[in-house]
Amino acid sequence: MVNVAILGFGVVGSGVAEVLAKNGAQINRKMDNAIQLKYIVDIRDFPDSPFADKFIKDFAVIEQDPDVNVVVETIGGATFAKDFTERALRAGKSVVTSNKELVAQHGYELLQLAKANGANYFFEASVGGGIPIIRPLSQCLAANELTEICGILNGTTNYILTRMIKGGLSFAVALKEAQKNGYAEQNPAADVEGTDACRKICILASLAFGRHVYPDQVPTEGITGVTLADVGYAAACGRKIKLIGRAIRREAGKVCAYVAPHLVDEENPLSGVEDVFNAIMVKGDAIGDVMFYGRGAGKLPTASAVVADVIDAAKHITGNKCLEWGPGGDDVTTPPDALESAWYIRAKAASADVKAALGDVSFLARSGAPEHEVACITGVYSETALQEKLAGLEIASCFRLLA
Ligand code: HSE
Repeated sequence: MVNVAILGFGVVGSGVAEVLAKNGAQINRKMDNAIQLKYIVDIRDFPDSPFADKFIKDFAVIEQDPDVNVVVETIGGATFAKDFTERALRAGKSVVTSNKELVAQHGYELLQLAKANGANYFFEASVGGGIPIIRPLSQCLAANELTEICGILNGTTNYILTRMIKGGLSFAVALKEAQKNGYAEQNPAADVEGTDACRKICILASLAFGRHVYPDQVPTEGITGVTLADVGYAAACGRKIKLIGRAIRREAGKVCAYVAPHLVDEENPLSGVEDVFNAIMVKGDAIGDVMFYGRGAGKLPTASAVVADVIDAAKHITGNKCLEWGPGGDDVTTPPDALESAWYIRAKAASADVKAALGDVSFLARSGAPEHEVACITGVYSETALQEKLAGLEIASCFRLLA
């Protein structure tokens, strides 16, 4: 028997209990040792829950119970979750998590701790919700030298942008819908300011390029500056605005990672990724391009990935699977300032001044534009070069194009 304890009965934790209860029989048919939910830890009371008999409040019970083999950490954050994860791993228990904040900030040390204690630390659900991406990157694509990862990594912001693009909804109304659907973080600022996508690209970059990439090494811009005017201009040139997380292998093996809104060309498959869906494009020297697509947030899609990790942990209860990467450091990353692309600019300016600053540009039009609003697509520049050219202009929006 493999005994499982769930820490935190929120959206994801309750989804894990539900999937284990609903699909337990068919899961266990394929297992040598049956998986059983033994405890749920939460400081709140759930007297009406079908799992009411499983609830405890004290993590030490789990830590000291030698029969608990796998701990599911769905608390979130990096305080209690870190403490409980470390204590579980030190007790030789495998830990499975959807907690991207913890993995992005402490993944290297937690993987080392797991290894030192003959346990596993799995986090398939930390990126892309239900989409399999961690295992494909670490196993299926292991033969490749990976050169780039580029994706839509946050379901909430993709939902908001889709509702703005297709329904003309305001940002605030679309965010409320995303919260109601259980997609958003407890504090949705982590979604709309890009922090959540930043954590996810850190995890993917660490795994793909072999050294820990920390969130504070990744310049991050969210979607709070995206307006319906930008959405309109993007549509006028056959593009959609998407929040993109990107990590590119650059000179001397350094990783250039960043998160920002982009105008995505309609030919690019990422432009067709809508609502809560996420998609992650991976480039490898043997495989070429491969794309992973699915529901990037929500109770059951995320629980699907967590329970798959529980099954994997249960199958490897006596051995470490050695998912790992090297330590971080100042020599790991390089900023995106030198990365060249075409740009979308919206400015409060005269078109002659924009032309004088940027040379040949393609001007864009939208109905209802106020006087002195100018929008255009520029030639190809690095960010540094572009900022020099734009000095002196009153810029409202400035986003890269993704071909
Ligand atoms: N808030 C996250 C999102 C949840 O919207 O993508 C899944 O990580």
